[in-house]
Amino acid sequence: MQITFDTKPFATLEADALVSYLFEESDPIQGRISEIDTAAGGLLTKIAGSGEATGKTLEFTLIHAPAGLKAARLLLVGAGKRDQFSSATLRKVAGAALRYLKSRSIRNFAFLVREGAASAETAQALAEAFITADFETDKYKTEKKNGKEIDSVRIAGYSDSEKSSGEKGLTIGRIIAESQNFTRDLVNEPSNKLTPQILAERAEAMAKEAGLAVEILDERKIADLKMGALLSVAQGSVEPPRVIVITYTPANGKPGAPVIGLVGKAVTFDTGGISIKPADGMEKMKYDMAGGATMLGAIRALAALKPNVKVVCVVPSTENMPGGKAQKPGDIQTAMSGKTIEVLNTDAEGRLILADAIHYAKQLGVTHIVDAATLTGAIVVALANINVGVFGSDQAWTDKLLASAKATGEKMWQLPMDDEYREFIKGSFADIQNIGSGKGGGSITGAWFIREFAGDTPWIHVDIAGTAWNDDAKPWLAKGPTGVALRTLVHLVQSF
Ligand code: BES
Ligand code: MN
Ligand code: ZN
Repeated sequence: MQITFDTKPFATLEADALVSYLFEESDPIQGRISEIDTAAGGLLTKIAGSGEATGKTLEFTLIHAPAGLKAARLLLVGAGKRDQFSSATLRKVAGAALRYLKSRSIRNFAFLVREGAASAETAQALAEAFITADFETDKYKTEKKNGKEIDSVRIAGYSDSEKSSGEKGLTIGRIIAESQNFTRDLVNEPSNKLTPQILAERAEAMAKEAGLAVEILDERKIADLKMGALLSVAQGSVEPPRVIVITYTPANGKPGAPVIGLVGKAVTFDTGGISIKPADGMEKMKYDMAGGATMLGAIRALAALKPNVKVVCVVPSTENMPGGKAQKPGDIQTAMSGKTIEVLNTDAEGRLILADAIHYAKQLGVTHIVDAATLTGAIVVALANINVGVFGSDQAWTDKLLASAKATGEKMWQLPMDDEYREFIKGSFADIQNIGSGKGGGSITGAWFIREFAGDTPWIHVDIAGTAWNDDAKPWLAKGPTGVALRTLVHLVQSF
């Protein structure tokens, strides 16, 4: 899909559709919309006057063959109240417009940016919206949607002098959105098409293409390193585990400078192991590798954006299966760090594999850690599918992530990590146990378990179990993988 700027007067643009957005205000036909209205002989004033177009969020008004305009159609999308409008609203409006037109077999459109909004930030948001909205999850359907495809989009409303900053935003937005789609494509893969070995191969190919250093640890290397927690999960499956290590080094990096560790859980299928999950809905556990895929997508974007800080991405990957050699409740494992773990529930496997990955990342020299994981069902109880759950050991570092979430329009909410919760995972027969002792706070005890392995290194954990997968399509996004947290993570590294 081509995205370009068109600086010609928008009423004169030729396209299958001319798209813009209306605000919900006493007179929605003002500013640039009144210019279109004038060219169209007052048509929009009439439509708004009749109450058909009000500017309410995501209200669609499609006008065919608008007299006075060159475009074959005019599509108006409601954007809500002007004073509440943000890049986040723009992303939804623009993405929804693309999906609306695509489903009607329209192949190209021009999108008019409203008065005062022609900036780099707007262009970035538009590129992100269009490219993520265009992503479909029909990879394994032999009958595609009749070849419906958007070939080209033109962004209108930028003057010749505004265009160059717009181009910069567009380039950044394209990099981020394509990386988000890279993540979503991985998350969409079923477990028979994406084993830990295949994930590692795909990560390696991505890293080479992006010019990143990559090392894949196979089961022998993992055993040599004594990653006992990861191996305890992997032993229940015939598929061998992998640890993917990808490094981004800035051109003028200095020795002793901070190194950010991006650690992501990549369980390519989570049956629960011997503590097996119920059959109903188990198919969704193919997305239990979303944390890892998010970190891979993030470092893919960073390779192109070239921030001035070193980043090491560590993705432990395994299946969680109840094979004959599977670990059993009560088993005691020794993690790479030397800590002993009593595995009371084999379904609390994400924290086990993250324990070793975080310890290894520290050995590789990371000074600041973020981990992303589809860690707990309890985070869905706490925050539903609306907010990502955030946990941190260092408030200054956590605040940076929360600021990046705000800046990129991703909803995240911090949960507490009082010392009292730590008591919940004190072990009876080993140093720690992998589930809390039945007193609720399941997402927090999961976070505390991981934190034991981060130690004094500033650490953030984001629980994306509720947000990495959309059970229903949104007007601006296909059903399925969302790629959530990637934009925040990229922003966090770039603003470090
Ligand atoms: N992968 C799951 C968490 C999950 C749940 C992800 C729902 C996506 C949607 C994780 O490995 C898990 O099974 N967690 C258990 C932990 C429990 C045994 C302490 C859970 O949340 O039930
Ligand atoms: Mn599990
Ligand atoms: Zn899991």
